[in-house]
Amino acid sequence: MKILTVVGARPQFIKCAPVSRALRKEHEEVLVHTGQHYDREMSDLFFEELRIPRPDYNLGIGSGTHGHQTGAMLAGIEDLILKEEPNCVLVYGDTNSTLAGALAAAKLHVPVAHVEAGLRSFDRRMPEEINRVLTDHCSDLLLAPTETAVENLAREGITGGVHLTGDVMVDALLDNAELARRSSLLDDLGLTTREYRLATVHRAENTDDPTKLTAIVRALTEIGNVVLPCHPRTEKMLKGFGLWEEANEGVRIISPVGYLEMLALEADAAQILTDSGGVQKEAYVLGVPCITMRESTEWVETVQDGWNVLVGSDWQEIVRAAREFVPESGRSDLFGKGDAAVKIVQAVQSFI
Ligand code: UD1
Ligand code: UDP
Repeated sequence: MKILTVVGARPQFIKCAPVSRALRKEHEEVLVHTGQHYDREMSDLFFEELRIPRPDYNLGIGSGTHGHQTGAMLAGIEDLILKEEPNCVLVYGDTNSTLAGALAAAKLHVPVAHVEAGLRSFDRRMPEEINRVLTDHCSDLLLAPTETAVENLAREGITGGVHLTGDVMVDALLDNAELARRSSLLDDLGLTTREYRLATVHRAENTDDPTKLTAIVRALTEIGNVVLPCHPRTEKMLKGFGLWEEANEGVRIISPVGYLEMLALEADAAQILTDSGGVQKEAYVLGVPCITMRESTEWVETVQDGWNVLVGSDWQEIVRAAREFVPESGRSDLFGKGDAAVKIVQAVQSFI
């Protein structure tokens, strides 16, 4: 069986690492990097740390508007599918690389398998929500991480080809937890366990709105002792809005970190403040209280279980949550036990 995998953005490299390893035990994988993320600390670093095989192709698409970026990926992936003639195209998550891979394959009648199918924030203003819905509706195999995802698909009439696999991010986290513990980053930054908060911000709805970005900077400054590995999009927008210096005065801003360093920062934080999807899940799995600076989340279980609270981008709400939010309930293995990659490969194998 020959699988063509499409990745392009940071979280997809992390998700594909365990699946790629499981897949290559018995099958051929052609790895395509769209080039959506290209800075070393947003791309190559993950391939090295997670020992992901070098991509067979890098389309080098880079940044752009949604139409230009997705369109260029679509054309490039189509050429590669025609050349490689895979049995199946595997896509991950909800980025423009995901949609381009799924659409290119579906139009060529090549089966599409979607890892992280069925996630919904029910907010169509998010580019990711459009990518999720469209990708699911042109996928043949829907690899759902949670029961909620399976239910979301059923509500949209998608029941065939759906498999509940658990979440591959749990596999990646468990595979790397021990290595992450050896990271010296906390010492290097002079951080003490549970005495700092970790923040990440990159969601377009927050970064591209000067009012929201200003409010987030104000809140993080007010909370104090916050470390923020800064996504390049956020750095660009902070500079563009003239907020960069103010943000650096109030918040410990560092470059984006590798996966092992990120796991180390997350595991020892007192709290995590984020608008990331993956970071919300990792906070839950690691048992760190999470404050999500968004109005909605696709990872609803983390909120229902009492470990995550949605606060939007109102600075006072963020500060209040940072001071008051204490999870009271236990956690369960609702994202799976770390065997999602094996289940995904089995599902693809039995489908082809
Ligand atoms: C993308 C995904 C988002 C995901 C995120 C993970 C879409 C629509 N969005 O958002 O769902 O959560 O990746 O991190 O696919 N940039 C650099 N260097 C890089 C990459 C980006 O400087 O290596 C800057 C560029 O200015 C670029 C901006 O970041 O314009 C945004 O990059 P883009 O890939 O369009 O979207 P993300 O915000 O990264
Ligand atoms: N991450 C990382 N370094 C960072 C920030 C995030 O390794 O500086 C990891 C994080 O641990 C998680 C993934 O990147 O596994 C989440 O990606 P991101 O927040 O970029 O995207 P999202 O999950 O929101 O799509």
